[in-house]
Amino acid sequence: MCGITAYTGKGRALPFLIQGLEKLEYRGYDSAGITLVDNKELVTIKTKGALNALKEQLSTLRLDQKAGIGHTRWATHGIPSNLNSHPHTNASNTLSIVHNGIIENYQSIKEGLAMQGYTFVSQTDSEVIVHLLDYYYQGDMKATLQKVMSYLEGSYALCVLNVDEPETIYVAKKESPMVLGMDESSAFCASDIPALISYTKDMISLEDHQMAVLRPGTIEIFDQQGQKVEPKIIHIPYDLEAAQKNGYDTFMEKEMHEQPYVIKETLRGRIENSIVMPELDSIDLHEYDHVYLIACGTAYHASLYAQYLGREWMDIPITCVPASEFRYGNYIVNDRSLCIFVSQSGETADTLAALKMCLEKNAMTIAVSNVLDSSLARLAHIPMYTCAGPEIAVASTKAYTTQLVLLAAMMVKLAQNSGYEVKDIDQFIYDLKQIPNLVKKTLEKKEIIEQYAKLLKDQRDAYFIGRQLDYVNVLEGALKLKEISYVHADAYYAGELKHGPIALIDQGTVVIALATQKEVAAKTISNIEETIARGANVILITAPGIHSEKIERQIKIEAVHPYLSGILVTVLLQLFAFYTAKEKDCNVDQPRNLAKSVTVE
Ligand code: AGP
Repeated sequence: MCGITAYTGKGRALPFLIQGLEKLEYRGYDSAGITLVDNKELVTIKTKGALNALKEQLSTLRLDQKAGIGHTRWATHGIPSNLNSHPHTNASNTLSIVHNGIIENYQSIKEGLAMQGYTFVSQTDSEVIVHLLDYYYQGDMKATLQKVMSYLEGSYALCVLNVDEPETIYVAKKESPMVLGMDESSAFCASDIPALISYTKDMISLEDHQMAVLRPGTIEIFDQQGQKVEPKIIHIPYDLEAAQKNGYDTFMEKEMHEQPYVIKETLRGRIENSIVMPELDSIDLHEYDHVYLIACGTAYHASLYAQYLGREWMDIPITCVPASEFRYGNYIVNDRSLCIFVSQSGETADTLAALKMCLEKNAMTIAVSNVLDSSLARLAHIPMYTCAGPEIAVASTKAYTTQLVLLAAMMVKLAQNSGYEVKDIDQFIYDLKQIPNLVKKTLEKKEIIEQYAKLLKDQRDAYFIGRQLDYVNVLEGALKLKEISYVHADAYYAGELKHGPIALIDQGTVVIALATQKEVAAKTISNIEETIARGANVILITAPGIHSEKIERQIKIEAVHPYLSGILVTVLLQLFAFYTAKEKDCNVDQPRNLAKSVTVE
């Protein structure tokens, strides 16, 4: 997610812009830039790389300008580069914009502008905004911005500078965040509270489709029809560090609660009546003898999910292998192999090594990553991106659920490319669109999960059991629990319990059981009841229509396509791990012995 700052007032703009971008660095970025208004001219300085690279360039200049905009870019369209950095200016250098979000219809806007003679210097979706403003501007900036907002589809938080009004900053917002603040002689805004909190604790959170006009000491807000609206002031009761966690105590909790938004961003532009993935248009699975899914840790579990869907919908051999094993196993890889690699960081050593091995054997390779232009994304033939934004907590949450939704869409696309009919595809796609809202509702069940987590307070072991697709979910649930609470958590196929593991069940043993797949639910529930008979404390997560009279602790997920139930179950198990770790006073964000990206083998 990008970071925006903007300032107009009696003081120098630059110090505000830079301190704000520094406070937003935790959001992750790959380039930075600013525009200042210098009398009737815009001065733009921007560069790929860290904020220090920008500050280095600025240090040689005396910049006393009193209005400006700043940006740190987390690339979604167009690799990190100087030209793709923000701000973007029009050809006559009279307008400058910074943007956070994704403009879904930027290609059609770009084609229309090109027909009007406009040329583009970047690969970004954002650049179309400044040229569209230029095209419509006849002297009334407010009306122009209002018109442009009506054309933009997707998400945006944007600031506009216009040399004709050197003290004024125009702001527009739809689905991406923007907060505003002011004092008696200045007005300012930013993507997030931390950038403003040193200047004011009374802020305005711009609402979707609203526009704001900032002048020294004043803020005016207008609705979609251009009517003035009274701003709602919010008082921020917490300090900077808490602000960077959006008011949560930990990054993990913040990132769990970002899931509805980042899942929506990941699916943005990917789902209309069918799946839209031009990157995969050339892939027909009948041209391959085998599909491999290769990853590590949580990403491996996401790959297992994709393997399950692929096997349900197609009759192509599909095998999911941990990257650390794939490299040394005798897997047949050649130019008729399709190898899909999944990695949040795109820098995991084992996954990268497996990719390089497949490339040497002329396989076709696809990389699913959360970091644009990461090593994995650069090396693979086809990069595909989640839009989870930077994930600071070591335990993966939002990166995982965005991998699940992206891989679900990819497997539909690959199946349809290859002539397979995906059973009840319309329901599946309809429910996939609902996932952001369903995840939001699932997060609201946190109080009951917090209660259930107390069962583990004095326990050192926990067992997760499930069948079929639920087995993938128990693997991830067990990993989440063990990595942040240090509880020894194991995942078993429910049907395997009686072949040995049930010997572990004793009085008070905690068993987390999943039964969301109707065709195997009854068998799973009878397995669970076997553990109860041996003294287990069971927490059962089921889907609507699945129930057991003998199990006291039951949670039902929201109604959803059975092949998407794992996303909602995962959110519950993230919460379970989180509250257990809190019960045990563990460091949730930085668990012992773990690194966020395992760049060693
Ligand atoms: C997930 O909670 C863990 N931090 C870990 O298993 C992680 O998923 C694994 O190291 C793979 O990382 P990657 O997705 O960046 O490749």
